[in-house]
Amino acid sequence: MENSYMSRVCVTGGSGYIGSWLVKMLLEKGYTVHATLRNLGDTSKVDLLKSFPNADSRLVLFQADIYNPSEFEPALKGCEYVFHMATPMLHDAQSSQYKDTPEAAVASVKAIADSCIRSQTVKRLIYTASFMASSPLTEDGVSFKSCMDESCWTPLDHIPALQACDITPGYTKSKILAEKEALKYNECENGKLEVVTLPCGLVAGETVLPYVPTSVEVLLSQLTGNLMTLNVIKLLQEVWGAIFLVHVKDVCRAHIFCMENPSMKGRFLCAAYNPTIREIAVHFQEMFPEYQIGKELLEGPIKGLECDSTKLIKMGFEYTYDMKKILADSVACGGRLGALVKVKE
Ligand SMILES: NC(=O)c1ccc[n+]([C@@H]2O[C@H](COP(=O)([O-])OP(=O)(O)OC[C@H]3O[C@@H](n4cnc5c(N)ncnc54)[C@H](OP(=O)(O)O)[C@@H]3O)[C@@H](O)[C@H]2O)c1
Repeated sequence: MENSYMSRVCVTGGSGYIGSWLVKMLLEKGYTVHATLRNLGDTSKVDLLKSFPNADSRLVLFQADIYNPSEFEPALKGCEYVFHMATPMLHDAQSSQYKDTPEAAVASVKAIADSCIRSQTVKRLIYTASFMASSPLTEDGVSFKSCMDESCWTPLDHIPALQACDITPGYTKSKILAEKEALKYNECENGKLEVVTLPCGLVAGETVLPYVPTSVEVLLSQLTGNLMTLNVIKLLQEVWGAIFLVHVKDVCRAHIFCMENPSMKGRFLCAAYNPTIREIAVHFQEMFPEYQIGKELLEGPIKGLECDSTKLIKMGFEYTYDMKKILADSVACGGRLGALVKVKE
């Protein structure tokens, strides 16, 4: 859909893995995009974004850091929709304002949502949330509910594995608190701002970046044997009961779907498949015998926990990438960027 009226949108974190695809797709659809990144002097990121089709006439770049959230205000000016995708992965120890990433992440949501309201042009804020905030573990953390849906919130205090070792320190807490903060804006009386949160599963597939994005590395850990990322995929299965997978292009399509819908607010899970590590390993082995799979990955649970992500589908969204394509595109990305070593031709 070409949005002719006020077709100006903002993407925070526009140079990240998902952000760069989203900026590219929005430009291709004819939107004018305000994208933020932390350092406009980083020519590798700036040049990449400027190389996208339509970027010369429709892309405006802004510098903004979550640790100084008022910097986002100029980027939101004149926009109708805002995608808040930037998230602090590592704490800025220089910060005297915030003690950790969760504090900084929540402050950025508040600052951005308040700026949206002040702008009088922003109609909807779409926050990229994470399945790390919607674990189907029971409140005491000892067993799984029958399926994951939008009512699930990760019982962080009762998951020792997450307290000992998160994706990055404070990541899960920041995703839980920031998403809850964003959703509060839907409860404001006379609130004119609609907020959609899109918790996403493990996002994988090709990239436009010159390196393999972390979440693709996590999926490919089965083929690279990288212990750090293997530990992350094992953590995901422990916290989710499956590896909830979604293709990066479907994630971007879902974000654009949530924007183009005439009216939409609330929480919508975004994941297409629920394999286990073992099922993924079997697929990898069949599809890519030239790579070696650790034997222990072919053990473990056969069937993943169900995820009821029909809320988004009932709104009319369709996933277009099947599981084999997600795996194949991720392997193509890892192979192209030199992250995979073949054991046989
Ligand atoms: N990939 C997944 O599997 C997945 C799953 C669920 C949810 N998500 C969510 O999707 C969003 C994007 O993730 P991604 O996978 O695309 O990660 P990514 O490639 O690491 O991108 C992270 C983005 O956050 C920005 N950022 C980091 N610290 C910042 C700060 N202090 N101030 C401003 N911006 C900052 C980075 O900006 P610079 O480029 O300027 O450094 C980058 O654009 C995140 O909110 C993440 O939680 C991702």
